[in-house]
Formats: sequence, structure tokens, C-alpha cells
Amino acid sequence: MSKDTTSGSSRRTFLQASGGITLATALAGYLGESAVATKQREPSRHVTELVDEMTLEEKVGQMTQMAAGEISTDDPAETLRKYKPGSLMYLTSFDPEEVARTSNKLQKAMVNETRLGVPFVYGIDSVRGDNNVAGATLFPHNHGVGATWDADKAEEMATVTSRVMRTTGTHWNFSPVCDIQRDPRWGRFYEGFSEDPFLASQMVASKVRGYEEETNGYKRTGASIKHFAGYSAPANGNDRTAALIPYRTFVSSILPSYAAGINAGAETVMVNSGSLNGLPAHASKELLTDILRDQLGFDGMVVTDWHDFYRMIKVHGFAEDLKEATKLGINAGIDMYMVPAAGIEGDDAAGYQQRLIELVKEGSVSRERIDDAVTNILAFKEHVGLFEDPYGTPSKVSDVISDGRDLAEEVATESMTLLTNDGTLPLDSGSSILVTGPSADSVRNQMGGWALGWQGVGDTEPPATTVLEGLSDAADSSTSVTHVPTGLHEFTNEDDVRRAAECADVVVAVLGEGPYAEEKGDTDTLALPEAQQRLVEVVSGTETPTVGVIMAGRPRGTDVFDDLSASMMAYLPGTAAGPAVAATLFGDANPSGRLPFTWPTGTGQIPNLHNNYPPDEFNKSTNVNPPQSHETPLFEFGHGLSYTEFEYSDLRVAPTKLQQKNATNDITVSVAVKNTGDEAGETVVPVYGGRDLGQVMYPQEVVVGFERVALDPGETKRVEIRSTILPLATVLGDVFSRGELVIDTGEYWLSVGDLTETVSVV
Ligand code: NOJ
Repeated sequence: MSKDTTSGSSRRTFLQASGGITLATALAGYLGESAVATKQREPSRHVTELVDEMTLEEKVGQMTQMAAGEISTDDPAETLRKYKPGSLMYLTSFDPEEVARTSNKLQKAMVNETRLGVPFVYGIDSVRGDNNVAGATLFPHNHGVGATWDADKAEEMATVTSRVMRTTGTHWNFSPVCDIQRDPRWGRFYEGFSEDPFLASQMVASKVRGYEEETNGYKRTGASIKHFAGYSAPANGNDRTAALIPYRTFVSSILPSYAAGINAGAETVMVNSGSLNGLPAHASKELLTDILRDQLGFDGMVVTDWHDFYRMIKVHGFAEDLKEATKLGINAGIDMYMVPAAGIEGDDAAGYQQRLIELVKEGSVSRERIDDAVTNILAFKEHVGLFEDPYGTPSKVSDVISDGRDLAEEVATESMTLLTNDGTLPLDSGSSILVTGPSADSVRNQMGGWALGWQGVGDTEPPATTVLEGLSDAADSSTSVTHVPTGLHEFTNEDDVRRAAECADVVVAVLGEGPYAEEKGDTDTLALPEAQQRLVEVVSGTETPTVGVIMAGRPRGTDVFDDLSASMMAYLPGTAAGPAVAATLFGDANPSGRLPFTWPTGTGQIPNLHNNYPPDEFNKSTNVNPPQSHETPLFEFGHGLSYTEFEYSDLRVAPTKLQQKNATNDITVSVAVKNTGDEAGETVVPVYGGRDLGQVMYPQEVVVGFERVALDPGETKRVEIRSTILPLATVLGDVFSRGELVIDTGEYWLSVGDLTETVSVV
């Protein structure tokens, strides 16, 4: 059996035509003026000369990513000479200085004792701060970052992360995740920024800019936008299972955040381990070459995910054996195989290199494709300054390791999303507070996955302040804080908790999930574990008001909200959970987070996205009853209360008319925002867009711009928001259309709160 997924490809058939816009142009517009024009960079002379000089074995070496642990630190040169790896991943120590020293030791051998001395690029997942080294600040996970709607902070966090990384000899970050949130059952939901393509795009671009900030004439680290593409939409909610995505949705919802990452300069792309519409993403030339390179203009390096050639045979049942899988993957456009030894028979560096060399010698993979891959890899190395400066600086580790502590607190505080409040919050000083629940004093739970351990904190604890510590620190002398712990899945001290609740003025119950990552986090329920539901029942059964704080990687909690006097989503706040939650509960910080996703009533409502096609809610006026799965969510996308009130007036939009050929241009939205309450506060002003009638249906609403503003009581400010109707670009035509992406002529609405203006495209 032999497959050729490249024949009959529809390459370029849906590029620019009358009225249409190229994907690259259209999607680049998401970033407005901050976009760097996508340009195909010419490889430097140094890179071309190196490629010319390399033997086939050396080239295939460049296309290999091994685990650092496979290389003896006592005598690294022999293994490095044997495999000539282009990249290493996963050093095994959490000690940052040791990481830097080991990385340097291996690199010295690579540079000095291999024939061409081409440095390896060392990569790892530092997805929320450098979560691989002890002492580094761990920022909130991305769903919390999305809730801040603060793209500048996303960039600052990435800058801090890359500084720690580079100092420890790490050059490549497998981050950020571009996959938009589609399904909260999926174990990686929290790695995405938002369900909204525009919001996610702004965050992705900011993170890429921060990781890839230039210092000393080169990028401090390289970013990897992942997992290209469609990874977050497995049809059954389980990680790495089949995704089925119509072309119209793929182009208008899935691709924008990738385009944003590419336009911000992302050096590398990591591929989706799953299958899309009946083909493993790793075998799709249409995805990895036609769309990624020819249409989105990506000119960097493409890496597989973990052992995904093997997955093509063993999971997807698509390739006959590893050799066929390698051929399909490399011909589809993959430049580097992530093949750390993992005990999978034959799927290691030696086996892969041998197969790829055979494929080239047989003519099944062309020498041009190999040269092309190696050029991409070497150009990436050049852009991150590896040929000038491949080493970490162990002596400087202590200067940078604790960077970002204040930033972590600011971001976590901005992310706090007040869901409900009957006036119990902010907490009164002078009260006695009972703190309970499984995450009240749990570093593991407030961190979630990817925290000095893939599945969460292990033996080495990252720097962290828990909610209990935060509340105790922030409480004034007239306020008392007591603690009765409970478990995530057990609740064996009901009487203690009830008694303590009866004696307290208020209960703060910190609820949610334990840590998880990837498939281990898949779930078939959004309800809290029974033990925690019972905890809420017990404390709310007393006369004492109860505040629920949820720490979870997804909208977790369904039936508990009616029993809570107030509730707040804290996401996975990381290092600064304590001060951020305490400041918000005590009212020292006014909550300003807004949900970056829709909070469904349960799994039966999935997919429930704010940009779904209508109908979404039961339409009482027409008495037309859509299927039950589209009831009103528990909390809408963008929901988030404050301790003050904001009022919008005088919405202005300019221009209000666009020629279709200029419909990708920015639109300026401005609105007066007044703080009508008694407290100072910040708020996010989201601009939503939509279209009521058209040749195809349109999402009920999408985000088309947003801005944060801080206002004193009684203060009014006019806020100007860069906006665009690009998120309403669509593919016209019937249900299986593969037409071009267009912003169709007609009327679009833009709204802020209850105010609406119209933009017409002619
Ligand atoms: C598998 C994950 O899917 C991917 O996101 C990660 O970058 C790699 N493992 C490397 O850790």
C-alpha cells in the first residue's frame, strides 16, 4: 500500500479572485498596523553554504530532535557525532544552573567535536513562564491570560519567560498554543487563550513578540505556534481524536490565530497530532505546505509533535509502517521529527535516520525537500543567534530567575472574573473568614499542569502563595482567617466544616480541579466532583454566606452557583494565586476579568460558543424551540462583574462605509465609558460584530476589537478601539463550498454594550 496525499491538491484554487482576499492578507489584518508584513525571507549565504557542505547524514541529523537524556554528559561527543542532532529537548534537571551547565556542556561538544560544529537548538515547553526550572515565576495559564484581555501583559510575560530560558541555555519554546477553545471536555482547554479567534489572535501575536524579542541582534528565543491545525476540536472531546471541521469554519475560525502568530514572526510551527477530516495532519501536504506556506506565507521551520510518524500507523491506521509514515510526513512539509527515545520499537533517532536516508536514496523523498527542510532549520538557528551565541549563562541565572513576580500578580489579578455576587463581596474587614475547599492551600491545584512536572507539581515546588496564605497576609488585625481543609474527591469532615462555617461571618470555598495535562485531562463532566458539591451544600446550608472561588482548567461547576452568595473564576493562577484572589475578595482590586469562553450548563450543551451559528438560545418571541443542546449558557462569553458600574454612550464608528477591496482596513470605534459607581475600577470594553442577513449564515457575534480602561468613580473617558470586520470574513457558497475567503458586500453591525452602529461594505 502506498499513498500520495499530494496529488490532486487544490493548491491555490482558492486564492485571490474577484472580491476575494488572500488568506495571508485577510488574516494578517487581524493584527492591524502591528502586523509585520509576511515576507519570504531569503536564506543567508552562511546557511546556503552550510547546506551545500553537508552530507546526507548530516542533513538528516539536522532533521532529528532527540531527548538530551539520550546523550551521555560524561562523553557527549560520541553520540553527538553519531546522530548529529539538529535539536535536543528535555534536560532532566529542574535546577536552572544545572540546566544551563548541562546545555553548555553538550553544546561545547557539538560545536567543537562534530565535523561542522553546527549547534543544536535546545527546545522545551515553557508555556506559562519557564515552568521547567525551579524558582522561575509561573504565570496564569492561557485561559486566565485570555480573561485579562490584556495583550500587552501577555507580551511582557513572554519576555520574562524568554529571558529565563536563554540564560539557562534554552533557545526554543514550544509555545504559544494557537488552538482556540472549542470544547471544555478536552484536557488542553486551558492552554488556549479563548474561543474567540480575534481575542486569541491578539494574545498569540503578543506572546510570539515577547518570546522572539531581539536582543544583541538576534531573537532571544524562537516561538512555536501549535498545533497546526484543528487540534482543539476533537469531535468527541478526547485529545488527539478525529476532528471534523468544515472548510468555512476552518478558514474563518481556526486559521486566524495561526496567521497572527506567523505575522508576528513565529519561527516554528508544531503540527497537530490528531487527524482532520479523515487525514492525519502530519500527512497533509495541503495543510503543511499549501495552506501554511503558500497561503499563510509561513517561511520558518515545521516540527512534528511527539512521535507522530508512529501515530500515523498505530493510532490513525493510515500508514503501513514507519518508513511510509516518514515519507508521507516529510513530503507533506515536515522539517524536523520529534523522536526522543521513548521505548517505542524502531521509533528512535537511529531508526528514523536510517529510514529517511533510504527514502532519499530510493528517490521517494527528493534531495530538494531535504535541502529545503535543512535550510529552514539552519535559518531558524541563525535567527536565534545560535551561530554567534549558543550558550547559556549559569552565572546570570540568579539575576533573572525570580523575574516577573509582580507581573504574575498583576496578570492573575486582572484575570479574576466575578461570576455572581449578591453583595457579599468585597469582604468586610473585621469579619471572621472560614477558608475551606480542596484548592485553598494547594500549590499543585493552583498551578495545574505544566508546573515543574508535565502533570503538575511533583517533588520540587515552584514559588507560590496559596489563597489561604494570601488571605491571611492581606487580612487586617480586625479580621480573622481560619482554615478547614477538604479533599478534591473526598469530604470526610462534614461536621468540622459545618461547625466552622456556623461560627464564621463568611466562608470562602476554593473549589475546582487537580492538575492534569493533555489526554489525562479529558473529562466527560463539567460538574464539580461530588465531594465538592456536597461541601457547597453543607456550607450554604448554614446561615453563613459562602463565596466560591473556582480554580480549574475549564468552566468547571454547573449546579453550585445558586447555592453560592458570590462566585469567582480564578482559572489556574500560578505563583500569585494568593495575593490576586485576596486583593479581589477584599476589594483592594476591583475585578475586571471577562470570560474568554462560554460557560455551558453541562456537557450536553457542547459546542456552545458565542460565535456559533444561530440559533443559540430559545427564541421566546417566535416560540420556535431549537434543540435543547442550545439553551442559554450558565455564563455568557465576556461575562464578568465588577464592584462598580460602567455605562457606555456616544458610540462612533469610522469609516461607516468601506469599498469591498478595502474591507480589511482598520475601523476606529470610539465610545464614552463612565464609571457610574462608587469604586475605582478597570473594565474591558469589547466590541462585537455581526451581520444579520447574507448569502450564508453568520456567527451570532464575534469580537472585532477591545480595549482596557481604568476609571475613577464618576469619571468618563472616551475610549478608542482599533477594530476590523475581518473576523466576519467568510467563505461563500453552498454547504461544501471551498470558495475564497471574502468580506461580502452588505451591512455589518458593530456594538458596544447596547449601542450599535452599522458599517456597509459596497
Ligand atoms: C506533546 C504536546 O502535544 C506538545 O504540545 C509538546 O510541545 C510536546 N509534547 C513536547 O513536550
